[in-house]
Amino acid sequence: METFSRTEQPPTGDTIDFTVMYAAHDAFRRDLDRLATAVAAGKADAPLVRAGWENFTRQLHLHHAVEDAVLWPRVARAAAGSRADLDLLRAMEDEHARIDPLLAAVDAALPGGAGKPVPARRAGGAPVDGLAERVDELRAVLGEHLTHEEGSALPLMRSVLTQDDWRAFTGEMRRRQGVKGAAVFVPWIVDGAAPVDRSRFLASMPPPVRALNRLTWEPRYRKRRLWNV
Ligand SMILES: [Fe+2]
Repeated sequence: METFSRTEQPPTGDTIDFTVMYAAHDAFRRDLDRLATAVAAGKADAPLVRAGWENFTRQLHLHHAVEDAVLWPRVARAAAGSRADLDLLRAMEDEHARIDPLLAAVDAALPGGAGKPVPARRAGGAPVDGLAERVDELRAVLGEHLTHEEGSALPLMRSVLTQDDWRAFTGEMRRRQGVKGAAVFVPWIVDGAAPVDRSRFLASMPPPVRALNRLTWEPRYRKRRLWNV
């Protein structure tokens, strides 16, 4: 797995710190790698795979929802007048919209959804045909989107957004997560991260968050053993 320090420079002065953004993107990539590995091993029906998938989709929906609601409109305002920039932001929204049905397609093909009908499931709870292909397509499309965002949207944001804009985005993310969400988000991000990335991410968190993560959040998250089969 690539590391989320790969293209990020340490923030200086007024530069927006994208550490959390890169870290979240790499956690999405990591989870889809884990899903693909589980599917290839015939373990798609393991309850901890379903639990890992449900957490992944929750994190991704929240990430995209706050980008769509808070981030892109602020970038659009700041970049007003630039047709190319507005086209890029429209592409970001379109890519988010394209990912949603791919998530639904994987979800429908994975066994074990609690209380939810799973179409065309085979006898014994085995995944429907085409699960591996659906996972591959989701990985490819999400991967292209994340790379596009990192290569084009983040540099645009860095050049036009203020620290207040960025704080509005991270603040809305925290507000929607609440303490319960943060208690999962933080240990989920550092799950399996290389030590250097783990340190960089945790260093970007306020000291009380680091303490809570060490004492409570991470031990509780580890007990859930998401994706372990
Ligand atoms: Fe993002």
